[in-house]
Amino acid sequence: MPKFQDKVVVVTGGASGIGAAVANAFASEGAHVAVLDIKAPHGEQPFGMIRRYHCDVGDEGAVEAAFDRVTADCGAIEILVHCAAVLGLSGPFHELTLEVWKRYIDTNLTGAFLASRAAASRMVATGTRGRVILVGSVNSFASERFAAPYASSKGGIRMLTRSASIDLARYGITVNMIAPGPIATPATQERFDTPEVRQTIERVVPAGAPGKPADIAAAALFLASPDSGFVTGTDLVVDGGMLAQILS
Ligand SMILES: NC(=O)c1ccc[n+]([C@@H]2O[C@H](COP(=O)([O-])OP(=O)(O)OC[C@H]3O[C@@H](n4cnc5c(N)ncnc54)[C@H](O)[C@@H]3O)[C@@H](O)[C@H]2O)c1
Repeated sequence: MPKFQDKVVVVTGGASGIGAAVANAFASEGAHVAVLDIKAPHGEQPFGMIRRYHCDVGDEGAVEAAFDRVTADCGAIEILVHCAAVLGLSGPFHELTLEVWKRYIDTNLTGAFLASRAAASRMVATGTRGRVILVGSVNSFASERFAAPYASSKGGIRMLTRSASIDLARYGITVNMIAPGPIATPATQERFDTPEVRQTIERVVPAGAPGKPADIAAAALFLASPDSGFVTGTDLVVDGGMLAQILS
């Protein structure tokens, strides 16, 4: 029996990389998966068990409309995995513009708020003991050069996870964050392939190489499964040991 037979799962950012692996993993376990992404074409495009919806997670009206549409098409939403984000470095702190700052915060942090609120409010209204899983980063814990907007947005997701988990625990809804280390995806592969970054990863990741999107999908399946029913308000770090070492 597939582990998530007929469960309704929303995956934001599911058109690429980690989100696509998460969407495929749930679909292969029997779930009805709705992918919300700016890359998806407008309108619903059924693809196997995966339906695709165009949605900018930073736009409140678009998020509410997409969640209503998914509910109408698939039924009550039981699981959210929020992966959508803009990645990358944005330059020295003292040269940052408000526009750049807002691009990361609006998509990554406000997007996480809007998607998790949309899921949680519907779960509470329908009495669904659901799962909210937010994808943060090792940058939720530690920053790096030129990364202030991205790391701030990911640090915010860590506290959003904790705050939401407290308010939603009484409804049987769990809220957790997955913190990936370097994972080879369309957003990162080119950078990881440069000799400089490859050597850095070999040095700072005890496992010696980037992880795979499937590693994050496996963590999402665990946090959505009955095995993790008493796990809430916490972080599952999937980083090949990167955060475990202080010097590298
Ligand atoms: N790849 C890594 O090394 C790594 C490490 C740590 C954390 N993460 C996190 O994992 C998640 C996925 O990253 P990835 O590497 O798969 O990136 P990716 O670029 O391959 O996928 C991100 C997806 O989000 C979508 N997206 C971007 N802005 C959006 C918006 N406003 N509304 C809806 N969708 C939007 C993109 O279209 C894309 O499909 C992100 O949250 C990222 O911060 C990735």
